Amino acid sequence: MIKTIIEPFRIKSVEPIYFTTKEQRQHILEVANYNPFLIPSKDVLIDLLTDSGTSAMSSQQWAGIMQGDESYAGSPSFFRFEETIQKITGFPIVVPTHQGRAAEKILFSILGGPGKYFVSNTLFDTTRANIEVSGAIGVDLLCEEGKFPSIPAPFKGNMDIAAFEKFIEEKGAESIALCIMTVTNNSGGGQPVSMQNIKEAKRLCDKHNILFFIDACRFAENAYFIKMREKGYENKSVREIAAELFSYAQGCTMSAKKDAFANIGGFLAMRDEVLAQKCRNILIITEGFPTYGGLAGRDLEAIAIGLEEVLSEDYLQYRIRSIEYLSKKLIAAGVPVMQPAGGHAVYLDAKAFLSHVPVDQYPGQALVVALFLEGGIRSCEIGSLMFGKYDELGKLVPAPLELVRLAIPRRVYTQSHMDYVSEVIIEVFENREKIKGLRIIEEAPILRHFTAKLTPINK
Ligand SMILES: Cc1ncc(COP(=O)(O)O)c(C=O)c1O
Repeated sequence: MIKTIIEPFRIKSVEPIYFTTKEQRQHILEVANYNPFLIPSKDVLIDLLTDSGTSAMSSQQWAGIMQGDESYAGSPSFFRFEETIQKITGFPIVVPTHQGRAAEKILFSILGGPGKYFVSNTLFDTTRANIEVSGAIGVDLLCEEGKFPSIPAPFKGNMDIAAFEKFIEEKGAESIALCIMTVTNNSGGGQPVSMQNIKEAKRLCDKHNILFFIDACRFAENAYFIKMREKGYENKSVREIAAELFSYAQGCTMSAKKDAFANIGGFLAMRDEVLAQKCRNILIITEGFPTYGGLAGRDLEAIAIGLEEVLSEDYLQYRIRSIEYLSKKLIAAGVPVMQPAGGHAVYLDAKAFLSHVPVDQYPGQALVVALFLEGGIRSCEIGSLMFGKYDELGKLVPAPLELVRLAIPRRVYTQSHMDYVSEVIIEVFENREKIKGLRIIEEAPILRHFTAKLTPINK
């Protein structure tokens, strides 16, 4: 019996990647103020900063690009996009946007405002920022098992339903603008949410008349986990599981830069025509006419094709197994990683990896810097640099987890790239006591991790 799961594609077009020396990388880090977002991508060897917009498109998608119809209004590319989303999600109304955060911005500026709460398993950074910009408050109610990186559990992305119930009692249902379930839970380790959990959240929302949406960026990866791990779904197709998942919600926000294999794009989909009309009114001012919403006709084609391709179970098997492959290699070497492996990324537990670096010296970011220095690998901190806040005395209130995300772009890197990545991480782990913490020297008031400047603490 052959056990190797191969990449379910062959390569038609290649892109060079560039090698640098350690001395060059030290200089690159200094110039970028120890922030990977400020490093030019040509200086990166393996880019695991994000899986967003970094997918390799298929030959079918590139063919779709040529067929894109660029009419301002009523383009057939829009109708194809709309029909595909309607078919997969069951939502009758589709509003295109240029990416996920534009969908969030539109929806939350309608539903949000001071005194309102948005409740989630875990909000992603842009999602939280769009909530806060509206004056509302974002609340994460992650299940207990999701808070412990080293303890494996099948659905660590679940929402704590009892905590949600308590929150409704305390704050009153009328103050909750939206319950939004992030599938898979990106900031919580790319962990999936079970169908049971989605059903329970929906039941509670229905009981209290709270709007329930899905942040659907990685809906297919989540559906595949349900097929693999949840009783009763083993014989259902991923398409059927995805349809059931969406059936419990009143709408979704989506970044097509993830599970739709597109380099740009997003959408809102929903059932309520009154809400949709309010969204379209903002869309016209900020994104464009409702049949293109900030996208070119060719992008709409690429997304429609990508949404069909992502439901291929051969692809999803390879995708989930290749993340697990990297994770298992690291676990075997004793490297602390979030367990089990997530759907789109391997998350290193920086607090355990660099236990000598205090949280106010950003162990996650220190590890990000070390991985780049050692092997030219770019990763992303998901910890107190991204989510930390200051109290009234200016003291850091750290994030619950200090993670480093190695997000794997879809269909881009091969097994030997992953072997190289694991070797670099293991080398860094073996020499971890030499790694120093960092201090922020400049930061923006919101989403500071994108532009913050840092410097090493040389003590
Ligand atoms: C869970 C989640 N929601 C929303 C977004 C925002 O999407 P976009 O980057 O297309 O604006 C992201 C992006 O990474 C995400 O992971």
